[in-house]
Amino acid sequence: LFFFLLNFISCELLVIRQSLKKNNLSAFPSNFLFGTASSAYQYEGGYLADGKGLNNWDVYSHKPGNLIVDGSNADIAVDHYHRYLEDIDLMHSLGVNSYRFSISWARILPRIEPFVTLTHIDFPQELEDRYGSWLSPELQEDFAYFADICFKSFGDRVKYWVTFNEPDFQVKYGYCLGTFPPSRCSRPFGNCTNGDSEKEPFIAAHNIILAHIAAVHVYRTKYQESQRGSIGIVLHCMWYEPISNSVADKLAAERAQSFSINWFLEPIIYGRYPREMQNILGSILPEFTTSEKQKLNQGLDFIGVNHYTSFYVKDCMFSACEPGSGTSKTEGFWAQSSQKNGIPIGEPTELSWLNVYPQGMDKIVTYLKHKYHNIPMIITENGYGDVIKADSTIDELLHDEKRIDFMDRHLDALSTAIKKGANVKGYFAWSLLDNFEWNSGYTVRFGLHHVDHKTLMRRPKMSATWYKNLIAEHRKCK
Ligand code: NOJ
Repeated sequence: LFFFLLNFISCELLVIRQSLKKNNLSAFPSNFLFGTASSAYQYEGGYLADGKGLNNWDVYSHKPGNLIVDGSNADIAVDHYHRYLEDIDLMHSLGVNSYRFSISWARILPRIEPFVTLTHIDFPQELEDRYGSWLSPELQEDFAYFADICFKSFGDRVKYWVTFNEPDFQVKYGYCLGTFPPSRCSRPFGNCTNGDSEKEPFIAAHNIILAHIAAVHVYRTKYQESQRGSIGIVLHCMWYEPISNSVADKLAAERAQSFSINWFLEPIIYGRYPREMQNILGSILPEFTTSEKQKLNQGLDFIGVNHYTSFYVKDCMFSACEPGSGTSKTEGFWAQSSQKNGIPIGEPTELSWLNVYPQGMDKIVTYLKHKYHNIPMIITENGYGDVIKADSTIDELLHDEKRIDFMDRHLDALSTAIKKGANVKGYFAWSLLDNFEWNSGYTVRFGLHHVDHKTLMRRPKMSATWYKNLIAEHRKCK
């Protein structure tokens, strides 16, 4: 499967609309990557096929009492493992020139110790059992080993490598709220008592940062010169808008970024944790040793930006907030609010965390540009999720004007950022197909193509045609 998919990456895949005017479309350079994004667990299915080992989401989704709302799992998902050729045809018909997907570590190294990965949330269960997952520093070396195998096997064709997808959310959900495996958390955040949310997210993140650095080191020393690719990390980049012009709220918004994207990017790019984290967390924040510090710095070639939404941020450190918010050392995680005087930022959608605020795209990209001296950025995810209701009809789902409007306005905001000089190299729509949406199971659909989860039949939605036209139009104007 991977060899087939990877063959297509290097091939030229055959490749408008309303508010995204022609002159804005021409802001995207001619070699801009227009793609769709996916991940192994959410797409592939075939969860035991061809000797694959179990990953932590296979086990978690089968566990009674897990937090997947519709009781589903991704054993079959959208059967991409068997239907990838059909899906590549769909990509051909969209005209995208790139495809973002992940390699499932448990599929490549089903039962070998020690284990390693380039990971999009799922993770080999055997390592979770053995090490307690990312709480153990031993995983750093294992990860570099797995990465080495992938670079060696696929690096002649893969020119963009991502080490981790959204590690900021992975550790918040897995070690703070307990809603993702390994389901560790403690009050006041999560509803369980098996973890230590004051410390564990920071230990897990620390090990992930060092694992990223170890993989980058392998790539730089053994492969990059001959393979001529680049390597980066993907973060969940929300825009945090201060709820008022007060200095305290502006500082709180900066703190929120420090406790999410800068938590990972500052060490990897500048070799240190954000000042705000150091001040608030003190000894809770792990330290880098001298030799680790030498390996940090310039630890990526591009920043992967998953951008969907924005939040207001209100200071809870120096001003009174509702009980429960802002009282803990992990305050930076939660000092956010989707409402200002009862009014949400942007337009709310049926998906509770998704407010449509396209300006957030321009703002976050411009923020990263200034903060990280305009290192290349790739929008690795952006998209709109429909929440499925009992009376949702296929027809409604296929006529997805809201998705078109969402993508159109976000691309327009992105073109504004590019015109102002942001070094953005690509945009990936999440997602080609409706798929398994983690704790929401199959109740939320992000696809440009509708998938009938019984027959697994794919059908293009209006947004597929729209995206196809946009890419074709971009080709013409270049
Ligand atoms: C980010 C994650 O990378 C992806 O797995 C998820 O499905 C989308 N956002 C939508 O929530």
